[in-house]
Amino acid sequence: MLDLWRILLGAGIALGVLVTGLILWSVLRYRRPRGAEPGQLPKQVGANIPIEVFYTVVPLVIVAVLFVLTLRTQDRVTRLSDTPDLGVEVTGFQWGWRFRYPAQGVTVVGDANQPPTLVVPVGASVRLRLVAADVIHSFFVPSFLVKQDMIPGVDNSLEVRPTETGRFPGVCAEFCGIDHWRMKFDVEVVTPEAFEVFLAEQQRVPGGRGPDATGPGDVGRQARVVR
Ligand code: CUA
Repeated sequence: MLDLWRILLGAGIALGVLVTGLILWSVLRYRRPRGAEPGQLPKQVGANIPIEVFYTVVPLVIVAVLFVLTLRTQDRVTRLSDTPDLGVEVTGFQWGWRFRYPAQGVTVVGDANQPPTLVVPVGASVRLRLVAADVIHSFFVPSFLVKQDMIPGVDNSLEVRPTETGRFPGVCAEFCGIDHWRMKFDVEVVTPEAFEVFLAEQQRVPGGRGPDATGPGDVGRQARVVR
């Protein structure tokens, strides 16, 4: 993703410099000479086939190359492995997040007043199933360099493999109502040992966080009560 972004930025800068340079050159080279009669024009040219071919073919080639590079990057970013190490169901609701670890019987819920934390082990492939409980939201962790919409009735999945431990902010990236801007969460990437400790702690928490935690409907109701 970062490589693609750098290529796009490089192409954009090169093109910007070329176009700005040609404009400046034309303005300076063909400005009205001193002592020229008002309305006197330089030699007018109607067509230039080589230049026209050039400025048609070159952009087509650039767009084609960027198109292929984008497809290849997208293919890699959206690829899902057959057997991810960990599965987490991420539910977005107005205005908070629920992270459910079905295989481990753990659920973490938080809203705008108490943003939750998605805890994942470093180096593991994590399949995130993205679910929307009410309206369209978007799961965005800038450090993952990827975001994906959460659409009611649509099953979207995203797979990430965090490469370093630490705390990384995440947000909802799709306008979803008055408190959209407060719909935040954190991703905490921890060592596998710390992840086991996290799971064990969560499994001990009584009420709402253990195996029988709230469903999507309850989450929405809870959010409204908190608000
Ligand atoms: Cu959810 Cu914006």
